[in-house]
Amino acid sequence: MYMDVITREILFNRVRSWMLEAGAFIRHKINDPLVINTKSNPKDLVTEMDRKVEFFFASKIKRYYPDHLLLSEEGYGDKLADTSGTVWVIDPIDGTMNFVHQKQNFAISIGIYDQGVGEIGFIYDVMRNNLFSAMRKNGAYKNDQRLPRLDENKSLNESIICLNHYWLTENRLVDEKVMQQLIKDVRGTRTYGSAALEFSYVAEGSADAYITMGLEPWDFAAGKIIVQEVGGVTTNITGEEVGMLDRTSIVTCNPSIQGFLIEYLMKAKK
Ligand code: IPD
Ligand code: CA
Ligand code: CA
Repeated sequence: MYMDVITREILFNRVRSWMLEAGAFIRHKINDPLVINTKSNPKDLVTEMDRKVEFFFASKIKRYYPDHLLLSEEGYGDKLADTSGTVWVIDPIDGTMNFVHQKQNFAISIGIYDQGVGEIGFIYDVMRNNLFSAMRKNGAYKNDQRLPRLDENKSLNESIICLNHYWLTENRLVDEKVMQQLIKDVRGTRTYGSAALEFSYVAEGSADAYITMGLEPWDFAAGKIIVQEVGGVTTNITGEEVGMLDRTSIVTCNPSIQGFLIEYLMKAKK
C-alpha cells in the first residue's frame, strides 16, 4: 500500500518548511566559530552544526510523527531491522568538509520512505538557497520550477561525470586503468564533495552521472527519489537495485549512458 496522497502532501509541506527553517539557521550561524571533531578517520569531520540540525529534525519527527522512524548519520536515529514503516533518512549536512573549509557546497538531505518505497525527497543547497524536491510520480522541482525529463539522446562523449578522485589512485576496489579510460572517453569530470548535491546536478542535467564506491543510505536516499522523477536511474556499480538500508556503491545517471558506465565499471571491478 502506498502512502495516501493527502497525508503525503501535508508531510511534504511540513518537511519543506522545516528544511527552509534549518537552512536559515545555518546561514545565520555560518561565520560563527566551529567546533570540529573527527569520526572514523582524520578526514571524516563532524561539527556541532551537523548534530544540531539532525537534532532539530529528530525533535520535529518525535513531536509530529511519533510513529515514524529515523535513519540518520549523527546518532539521533533508530536501529532499523527492515524497511517497514515510514522512515525518514536524513543527512543533516552532506559535505561537512565543504561546510568547514568553504562555507558553501553542502546540503541538507532528507528522503522519506514508506514500506521501503521512496515517497518524498529534499536536497537543500543551503548557501545558494536552492531547494530540490520530489514526490513519487509527481515530478521533481528546483525551487518552484519543475525540472524537465533528462535528455534521452545523451552520448558518453558529451557527458559530464561526477567522480571522487580518491579511488582513481591505486586502490583495492577498481582497476584505475579502466577508470582512466572512462575519464578520457567522457567530455569532462567534476568532484563537488557532496553526494546529495551531485545527485541534484544529475537531476537538473548539469551533470550526467555521479559514480561513487561507497555511500551510506543518508547520502543517497533523497537523491535517488529526485533523480527517478526526471527519468534518471540509480543502481550500484554492477547495475543492481540499491536498498535504503545498506552502504553501497552508486551510479546515478541519465539512462542513455547507463549501459556504457556499467560496462566500464564491471570491467574495472577488482
Ligand atoms: C560525504 C560526502 C562526500 C562523499 C562521502 C560522504 P558527509 O558525506 O557526500 O561527497 O564522497 O562518501 O560521506 O560526511 O559530508 O555527510
Ligand atoms: Ca553524507
Ligand atoms: Ca553528513
